[in-house]
This record gives sequence, C-alpha cells and structure tokens, in this order.
Amino acid sequence: MASYLEISIEIAREAGALLAEYLERHIGFELKGEFDLVTVADRASEKLVVEKLRANFPAHNIVAEEGGGHTSASEYTWYVDPLDGTTNFAHGFPAFNVTMGLERAGELIAGVIFDPLRDELFTAERGGGAWLNGQRIHVSGVKRLEDSLVATGFPSRKRHRNVNVHFYYQLAMITHGVRRAGAAALDLAYVACGRLDAFWEFGLNPWDMAAGLLLLEEAGGTASDMKGSRFHMRDAHLLTDNTIIHGEILEVFAEIFEGKVRYPMPGMKG
Ligand code: IPD
Ligand code: CA
Ligand code: CA
Repeated sequence: MASYLEISIEIAREAGALLAEYLERHIGFELKGEFDLVTVADRASEKLVVEKLRANFPAHNIVAEEGGGHTSASEYTWYVDPLDGTTNFAHGFPAFNVTMGLERAGELIAGVIFDPLRDELFTAERGGGAWLNGQRIHVSGVKRLEDSLVATGFPSRKRHRNVNVHFYYQLAMITHGVRRAGAAALDLAYVACGRLDAFWEFGLNPWDMAAGLLLLEEAGGTASDMKGSRFHMRDAHLLTDNTIIHGEILEVFAEIFEGKVRYPMPGMKG
C-alpha cells in the first residue's frame, strides 16, 4: 500500500500542474480582504487536493486555507495550502507552490512542498530525513549571522499591526541580505536545503508551515518562537534557522523587542 507521503506527492504534482496551467492563462484575482488576494486557481487546486485526500483517507481531518476542508474525530489532520504565494501568482511572479503536511496526534509525520515552475519537490517523513527531488538535504553550515542570507514575509491581512519592518531593517543591516519572496512554504524549504540560513515571520497559518516545519526538523534546522521558546503551530510567530546561528538571531531579536536597536532607521528629511 502506498504511504501517506507517496499519495500526497502524487496529489501535489497534480495540483502543481494545474497551477502551472492557470498561470499560462493569466487569470485575474478577487480580494477576500484588504490586499488579500484569491484566484480561481487557489479554489481549483484546493478542490483537487481535498477531493483526492478524502478519496484516499476518508476518515482524516483536513484543514485547507480556502475553507474546503473536512472535520472528523480522527487523530490525523492534513494542513493544505493549495496555492502558497497567491499574490506572486496573480502578478505572474514565479514563486509559488502547493503544500500539505500531515499531523498525527499533534505530531507532524509527513510533508510535501511542490514548486511546479522549477519542478522541485521537497519531501519529509518523520525520522526519514528531508529530500529535494530524491536527494537528501541539510541546513547550511553558516556559522555567523554576518555571513548569512535570510528571509522573511509579511502577511496580507492586518499589515498595519505587524512589527516586522523593524526586524527586517535590523537584519538587513547585519546580514548579506533579507529576501522577501512571498511564499512561506518555499522559504522554509530553502532554509532546510541551505539556500537560506534563516526565515522568520509574524502571523503565519498552520497550512503555510506544516510541511516546512517537518522538512526543517529533518534537515537539522531549529524552529522556535521569536523569543526562543518551543514552537507550536498555533503560535503563528515563527523563527527558523540552521541551528548554528539561532542564538545570535535571538540576541538581535531580544534587542529589538527591548527597543535597543543597533541601527536606528534613517528619517525621511532632505
Ligand atoms: C502567504 C505567503 C507569504 C506570507 C503570508 C502568507 P498565501 O500565503 O506565504 O509569503 O508572507 O503570510 O499568507 O496567502 O499566498 O497562501
Ligand atoms: Ca500560504
Ligand atoms: Ca494559499
């Protein structure tokens, strides 16, 4: 019998192909909140993923971003983001993916993130390592924050309440750079395979993170909240990195929380 991971890989590849087709058609978008976009591709991909998950695992819970999930008393829950990177997708910016992660009794056990444009498939099973297109992946060996390339993201909703611009600015001053590519699951996958050394964001949802968190753990990375405490998916504020620079990032974050910034932001005068 095919494993949970094998079945989710098949589904992710199918949904990814569907997203790539929609991209070619230059479809429009709707707003589901201020600056919060949704497209017919989000909905079509979710329908496909949820139908296939339900056909294979009728008893499992499914939590899917666009609301097409399924509630049951099962200890298994799938977290599905049918299109992570909708804003990119709607503008034709080539950074998006489909992702799903499976939790059993509160523990992540399988995850897949598929980028159809690069044909990159990131997969992990608990205890089985992290993989990119069948090759084992590991976090980077970068030892100092000043030698790192890091990434962050900003939620579409309630942006005015987000403090992240302060973190963005300080990290931009003391690293090789801060990327903001707009697809959180890929950011996590890139930390897991060493393309990035850290990623953080305030206000993520479980479907953005489930697969990426398992991938990261299996690749030797660390996840915590912004103050270094153990991370739970319901927490939303997430810091991830290659483990080596975790302490250094937490020190910088603690300074920002205390208002003791190393680099005051320049004013707009003149
Ligand atoms: C968003 C992306 C983005 C992140 C937002 C997410 P969506 O997901 O992952 O990078 O900054 O917080 O909501 O809405 O495109 O699935
Ligand atoms: Ca998302
Ligand atoms: Ca989404």
